[in-house]
Amino acid sequence: MLPVIDVKKFNTLIEISTLINSNYSDGHALLTKIVESATRLCEGEASSLLLVNQEGNELYFEVALGAKGAEVKKYTVKFGEGIAGWVVQHNKSIIVNDLEQDKRHLSSISKKIGYPVKTMLAVPMRVKDACIGVIELLNKKNGRDFTQDDLEWLEIFANQAALAIQNAQSFEKAQNKIELLQDQIKNDQGYHPFIYKSPAVAEKLALIDRIANTDSSVLILGESGVGKELFAEQIHLRSPRRQQPFIRVNCAAIPEGLLESELFGHIKGAFTSAHQSRRGRFEMADGGTIFLDEIGDIPLMLQAKLLRVIQQKTFEKLGSDETIQVDVRILAATNKDIESLVEKGEFRGDLYYRLNVLPLYIPPLRQRLEDIPALAEFFLKKALKKTKKDIEGFSHDAMEFMLSYSWPGNIRELENCIERACVIGQDRRIQRRDLFLDGHAYASESGAGGRDLKAALTAFKAYYIKKVLEENKGNQTETARALAIQRTYLSRLIRELRITNV
Ligand SMILES: Nc1ncnc2c1ncn2[C@@H]1O[C@H](COP(=O)(O)OP(=O)(O)OP(=O)(O)O)[C@@H](O)[C@H]1O
Ligand SMILES: [Mg+2]
Repeated sequence: MLPVIDVKKFNTLIEISTLINSNYSDGHALLTKIVESATRLCEGEASSLLLVNQEGNELYFEVALGAKGAEVKKYTVKFGEGIAGWVVQHNKSIIVNDLEQDKRHLSSISKKIGYPVKTMLAVPMRVKDACIGVIELLNKKNGRDFTQDDLEWLEIFANQAALAIQNAQSFEKAQNKIELLQDQIKNDQGYHPFIYKSPAVAEKLALIDRIANTDSSVLILGESGVGKELFAEQIHLRSPRRQQPFIRVNCAAIPEGLLESELFGHIKGAFTSAHQSRRGRFEMADGGTIFLDEIGDIPLMLQAKLLRVIQQKTFEKLGSDETIQVDVRILAATNKDIESLVEKGEFRGDLYYRLNVLPLYIPPLRQRLEDIPALAEFFLKKALKKTKKDIEGFSHDAMEFMLSYSWPGNIRELENCIERACVIGQDRRIQRRDLFLDGHAYASESGAGGRDLKAALTAFKAYYIKKVLEENKGNQTETARALAIQRTYLSRLIRELRITNV
């Protein structure tokens, strides 16, 4: 007679192997599902999936189901201890239906959590014949005994679980590799061209040159869109660490629950049973610089750990006792008023003082008008590459307007505005109307935020003279004629307005 195939069990197996093969990314959920199915089909009251730890001498509970599941997870089991310890040591399956009589049974855990166990089924999970963990079912329902048939089914489920773990490990390995490569690519090519003309920015860069050699933390402050990230790049590139990694972390973009592992790494992931652990950003930045962007958004809980890294340059990965030492320079940035966060108790005062050893305030664009023409030209070239349009530059009207506008969104707004104008523009030059800035914040009131008329006119004069000089290939006599001014006056203006590169 042919053996009767249990359709329910068979269908569950198919469902699980489909999940395993579909690159189901949440490994812990997948293991939980496998254990749940095995428990239901073999009619256990409770169950666990234990994995061998990194040191290879203990089992920890990766999944624990049943009335006391959450409590049991606090414990670990040594090799050779209890039924699971016996299974891992002998790499063999076992049925015990008179547990109270069995000397191998480790009654201490079941006593502590108050869960008496009478019958038990435990099988090894194997990868290439080596036991990497154990699945056990406890107390067959209705006081019955576990059978040889149950054991064989559980072995099949254990194979599936081992396969899922193996997949997840390869996936994690590949993922680590990809991240490393991505970081390397970023470090080769990720730096932005840094455009400036204003004395205000030149002063900041001179300051950066002075502080670049130290390892002190720098807190970069300034309105949104002023280029804080680019200044952070400059600090790194002008420092002796320039050949080493520059690792960026946007603290606001990473979900709170993941930030700690992102920064410090973790070992015991869902099933990092032995070898796989993940490096955090601090480890990746070893020897180089870490840039903690939007530091104002870092949860209080993590601030203490961060403080220690700044003070001692040491930390532990999640789930590990091993202390890691790194040599990292820390840069941080925020557009929030961090002092008021400290007052409100949302940001630790001690961390703020530690980060703020060297504060670097980046002035808004309206206070460095000389940068506007240079940045505008740069962004125009960039936009033209994308749009493949044939635009020569800006009309005088458009440039004058850009110099008088207050740019509340700073350089980011300027970049967006030019990209938009490039798409809309139909003339050889970008016109004022293409900028679509009318009705927004004008900067005509003198003095307010440094947006005074004199500064705007000076910046425009410099821009205009440079343009005409370029058109005349640097010939000052021709340029003076075109501008209808004396040649001597022109050279004085060139000197006074610091016009260069013609
Ligand atoms: N000096 C510069 N030269 C060229 N591009 C710049 C410069 N400064 C800023 N940018 C560009 O402006 C945009 C905004 O810069 P960045 O992201 O560094 O601003 P931010 O100060 O960090 O703003 P937020 O506080 O909103 O994060 C980016 O696209 C950046 O490439
Ligand atoms: Mg930023």
